[in-house]
Amino acid sequence: MINKGGLVAFPTETVYGLGADAFNATAVSNIFLAKGRPTYDPIIVHIAEAADLDLVAKDIPPVARTLAAQFWPGALTLILPKSDAIPNIVTANGPTVAVRCPAHPLAQALIAAAGTPIAAPSANQFSHTSPTTAQHVWDDLAGKIEMILDGGATTIGVESTVLDITGEVPTVLRPGGVTVEALKACTERRPGSQAEVAVLPTLQIRTSSSNPAAPPAPGMLDRHYAPQVEMWLFTGTDEEIRQAMLEIGETEGENGRSISLLLAEEDVPHFAHTSHKIGIVGSLDNLEQVAQNLFHTMRTLDAPNIDLILARDFPPHGLGHAIRDRLRRAAKRIINCEQ
Ligand code: TXA
Ligand code: MG
Repeated sequence: MINKGGLVAFPTETVYGLGADAFNATAVSNIFLAKGRPTYDPIIVHIAEAADLDLVAKDIPPVARTLAAQFWPGALTLILPKSDAIPNIVTANGPTVAVRCPAHPLAQALIAAAGTPIAAPSANQFSHTSPTTAQHVWDDLAGKIEMILDGGATTIGVESTVLDITGEVPTVLRPGGVTVEALKACTERRPGSQAEVAVLPTLQIRTSSSNPAAPPAPGMLDRHYAPQVEMWLFTGTDEEIRQAMLEIGETEGENGRSISLLLAEEDVPHFAHTSHKIGIVGSLDNLEQVAQNLFHTMRTLDAPNIDLILARDFPPHGLGHAIRDRLRRAAKRIINCEQ
């Protein structure tokens, strides 16, 4: 199907991808159509093994080989100068290409069997919550794509870390499945540079003052990963978050809105007396579990009979960076509960 130019959704260890032959510009343009994705947003190219990097990128710096040896196959996407073989539609006419070697055996088997690198964004409708099961892909894209490979629920649950290594200092454009801590441990401090790895702050682009007509930088679309229902995100200490969620849940409930809550396991006893629909993503002490369940829980709470989702924030370490990034992009409002 890939060799015929068709679109095949497949599991990776992060989220499901919607794949097409990366060398077939027509097939890749159909990805944009199926997802309703603007063509200014470039797509990640997936390779079967690190040795295939030279098929899709050029002028590859030594740090790319170091990172690939450490993290591939895995949830790390590297931004590199693009090879001429990659059609411009894949990279949104840009000079760089995003490359990842996924760890999921079904993804690897698909790429190897196709005998070509596979361009694949997440297999959801553009800006909707990312898919972590074949059913999620079906719900968003049935009738618009040729095939879905069902490999069960994905294990990591949030997308890959996107790391730009075309500049002086490797820069995280999107936090993801490989933690910043792990990247720092692997990257040498270069002479004259401030940090081993720089991290772009979430939501720094597309503030209300920036030009809304200008396309945002790749990876920097702010409203993203969003449920259909409005979501509000609560930040602060655990106590502050719980108290504010209870109060606002009650007020909004009295206003006639039916509420659902995205909670950690530890919150549940505090909400025992509410009638709100509750989704538990996992323990505050187990951010791997929270990441794994995040998008599925968001989709469950995003039900036709729900008017408002109230979500708690998570700690800023490890996978917490990716979790916090996705919650911020999905939320319509961020409520800071700090006293
Ligand atoms: O885990 C993942 O990364 C999943 C699985 C399927 O591999 N893919 C994924 O793709 O999340 P997508 O298209 O949903 O997100 C890719 C991100 C986008 O934010 C895009 O703007 C950015 O990577 N990106 C792609 N090419 C880029 C480039 N050349 N420079 C900077 N950012 C790029
Ligand atoms: Mg996506």
